[in-house]
Amino acid sequence: MPESPLIPLVGTIDKITSETAASDIKTFQVSFDDPAVMDNFNYQSGQCAMLSMFGVGESMISITSTPTRKGVIEFCIKKTGRVTDAIHEAVAGQKLGIRGPYGNHFPLEMMKGKNLLFIGGGFALAPLRSLINNVLDNRKEYGRIDIVYGARSPGDLCFKYELFENWTKYENTGVHVTVDRGDDKWTGPVGFVPPYLESLNPSAKDSVAITCGPPIMIKMVLQSLSKLGFADDQVVTTLEMKMQCGVGKCGRCNVGGKYVCVDGPVFTLTQLKQLPPEF
Ligand code: FES
Repeated sequence: MPESPLIPLVGTIDKITSETAASDIKTFQVSFDDPAVMDNFNYQSGQCAMLSMFGVGESMISITSTPTRKGVIEFCIKKTGRVTDAIHEAVAGQKLGIRGPYGNHFPLEMMKGKNLLFIGGGFALAPLRSLINNVLDNRKEYGRIDIVYGARSPGDLCFKYELFENWTKYENTGVHVTVDRGDDKWTGPVGFVPPYLESLNPSAKDSVAITCGPPIMIKMVLQSLSKLGFADDQVVTTLEMKMQCGVGKCGRCNVGGKYVCVDGPVFTLTQLKQLPPEF
């Protein structure tokens, strides 16, 4: 790895998968050009890395692959501005810069032996996918697993190959998908994630809920989890926030006494409630 954590290393885009009908969300599989760096890139589910397009700029992106599958590094990226637009225009074989990994990670130790309830919305399934595949790769260490996921429309669902093919194959695992608006072909549930979650009535006993999504969805999901009997320390979430340095130096991601890039992005609800009220 480089002497300074702020120096990006050169990598190559190996594979690009379009996730949505509009192709506004794509998954990029990348590798470091130096095989030694590739072998030593150790990350945990929940961490992020800074990706850069040379001459354009850089952007912090969560890692969507799982560390349990060595040799594969993936980022799921939504077109949201100059840098992500440039990454979307790239083709396989193109170079990019990678620095990281940054931030804390999902607390796997507190999840061992527990039932796990994942709740995601839209593009925010990306960081959860890393953890979901991580726990599924160690399936025996966890209780029941339920994945509740929603998007605006069937065409906006990300990771359909995981939702409808891969994850449904595991025993004692449920995948529950809803959309805000169906279409001619959609035969599944229609409605927002929070009421759909409540209708599924998951048990809070011996469970941990892990959620990620747009702020409004998170707010409603937290209310639903409270109604379902989940205590604050049974709820884990990951925050999306603009970041610049990634190492606690620039102050861009400062929230109260915390830096999201170092102290987060993963927080329990107990920790979140200690942050200023806007969070
Ligand atoms: S991004 Fe610079 S302090 Fe967090």
